[in-house]
Amino acid sequence: MSGNIIVVMNQKGGVGKSTVATNIAVESALAGYNACIIDADPNRKQGTKSWIHKRVNGKYDFAQIESRECYGDIFDTVQARAREHDIVIVDCGGLDSTESASACATAHLALVPIECDIFDEQGELLGFSSDPISEMDNMLSRMKAGNRTLKTATILNKYPTSSFAKNGVLTRKYLTERTKNLRPLKQTLKHSNEFSKAAAYGAGVSEMGSSPSAGQVQLVFKEIVELLNEE
Ligand SMILES: Nc1ncnc2c1ncn2[C@@H]1O[C@H](COP(=O)(O)OP(=O)(O)O)[C@@H](O)[C@H]1O
Ligand SMILES: [Mg+2]
Repeated sequence: MSGNIIVVMNQKGGVGKSTVATNIAVESALAGYNACIIDADPNRKQGTKSWIHKRVNGKYDFAQIESRECYGDIFDTVQARAREHDIVIVDCGGLDSTESASACATAHLALVPIECDIFDEQGELLGFSSDPISEMDNMLSRMKAGNRTLKTATILNKYPTSSFAKNGVLTRKYLTERTKNLRPLKQTLKHSNEFSKAAAYGAGVSEMGSSPSAGQVQLVFKEIVELLNEE
């Protein structure tokens, strides 16, 4: 595997873009790949930007990951990093931002973290004046029109267990049946405070010892590698 570019994107804040991007980067490095992470979300001081700072300035001996902060039209930077690395992970802000458009123009996978809180109690899709899922689906179709090799997927994050499990099932069914570009990965990330604990050190959950979250991230990474290698 070499030169693979993954763009993590969703216009909504707090869905887990930075969590997914940083943990996938760590997983790549732990699997022996030469990994690079790019923060391309200019509107957020938290997230990958502060994660990078903690990782670089901390006193822990974590796996080597090259990191960059890069905003605006990032096409050339992303391509240049891909020539030097096995895998480049880009944490993007808004779905139709210059960052996500320019990164998607050269990427292999657009990965959209989604939380399973998109339905009301009657099982109706929540959407106020707009339907955010269709908007994302259409946006990804446009990205694919500009890049024939772009694959897309969603990752269900903060996946509910116990009493809210129905929301997870509904969300998976809806995305699978009603969208072209937002097919969920089989593996999900469950809700766990392991993610924020690890992020506080500039680490991935797999670097904090074994935990259910570490196991989930490892399976997600394995599925992503399979998806990237699919014809
Ligand atoms: N699976 C999860 N379980 C629990 N907390 C999570 C999970 N994923 C993300 N979080 C937390 O949710 C908050 C927002 O996540 P973040 O990755 O920064 O979202 P985004 O980059 O989309 O704004 C952070 O505090 C993060 O630690
Ligand atoms: Mg973020």
